[in-house]
Amino acid sequence: MGVSFLEDFNSMVALQQSLTATSTNKHLRPIDARRDLNQIADLIEMCFSSTIDPDGESYIRQMRKAAKNTPYMQWIGSLGEQAPFPTSGFVWEDEGRIIGNLTLIPVLHHTHPLYLIANVAVHPDYRRRGIARQLTQAALTHARQRKAHAIWLHVREENLGAYQLYRSLGFVERARRTTWYYSKDIIKPADELSNRLRSFTRPAVTWREHRDWSAQQKWLENTYPSELRWHLTLRTNLMNPGFFASLYRFFIDARIQHWCARFRDQLWGIITWQPTTNYADHLWLAVHPDNEEIAAFTLLSHIVERYKYRRPLSLDYPAGRASNAIQSAGFQLHQTLVWMKIE
Ligand SMILES: CC(C)(COP(=O)(O)OP(=O)(O)OC[C@H]1O[C@@H](n2cnc3c(N)ncnc32)[C@H](O)[C@@H]1OP(=O)(O)O)[C@@H](O)C(=O)NCCC(=O)NCCS
Repeated sequence: MGVSFLEDFNSMVALQQSLTATSTNKHLRPIDARRDLNQIADLIEMCFSSTIDPDGESYIRQMRKAAKNTPYMQWIGSLGEQAPFPTSGFVWEDEGRIIGNLTLIPVLHHTHPLYLIANVAVHPDYRRRGIARQLTQAALTHARQRKAHAIWLHVREENLGAYQLYRSLGFVERARRTTWYYSKDIIKPADELSNRLRSFTRPAVTWREHRDWSAQQKWLENTYPSELRWHLTLRTNLMNPGFFASLYRFFIDARIQHWCARFRDQLWGIITWQPTTNYADHLWLAVHPDNEEIAAFTLLSHIVERYKYRRPLSLDYPAGRASNAIQSAGFQLHQTLVWMKIE
């Protein structure tokens, strides 16, 4: 990692000095993880209370736990952006109280430094005063000083106010992605479409073979384009069917599994199940574009049958694609995020 990209907080402090040249008790400053974490957790919890999911709740619990561990926080604070826990970014302080937050997460993608902006939150009593705009502008300045190749963020599709803010600052929409969840606690009765799909002559579900890998790679690129992969836990090197990849999987205990949908020896699609320690295990769906709906329905229904009494399942998929098939297989739409970027 380049030193210029991962230095400590010095340039943030310099930026703060320029931002608060007329320093008052209401001002923007870099996050000081050692003292701010609890207040940031409170603010994020309040501002995202209506949309927070189990992984978000766990993230907030971890923040609070870390905040109580003083030696750990001293260590984290000394690491700056290299900290394992995302603790860099900016806050807006009013009389010692944090009322605005923006987290900046550095990511290295194919040796290119990127930043992800997250947790942009302003206390309801302080909204529409330009605080989020100033926080985002400070983050952009900081990332540009570090010569980031791109700055990314995501916003829920229905959050038009935040979307408008980011557009006005130059962010350009790059993708819309839907997260789908399946949980045995929310089993949907079969709908008319699922009954119809079940009545078709469907492809057979089989194990993956070595010869399927090149099509799988091509279709994975279509569903999970390289530009967006850095934020996903998709690891195509773990999916490779070769001997060394299986040895590698054995050593790191990666228990991933694949199933194929085949119709008269023609491959229609492949699904990969990948266990996680998060709320849900992940599914990666790679299907032939001509048979997307039926292949998606067949593979997802198979996975649901197989795993329905285990952990919840999640699928990240391009918004608007195969939605009926995914729902008919028993999945529920969790959220659609708009991914935006500035080069
Ligand atoms: C979204 C949020 C961070 C905006 O904070 P804020 O400090 O009020 O935003 P700003 O005052 O800087 O607004 C800048 C621009 O964004 C747009 N905007 C912000 N909130 C808006 C709203 N509720 N409705 C419409 N436009 C809005 C406007 O274009 C605004 O410019 P204007 O006031 O000159 O019209 C705040 O509403 C919030 O914390 N919401 C809950 C958490 C959240 O959704 N975070 C965003 C995650 S991506």
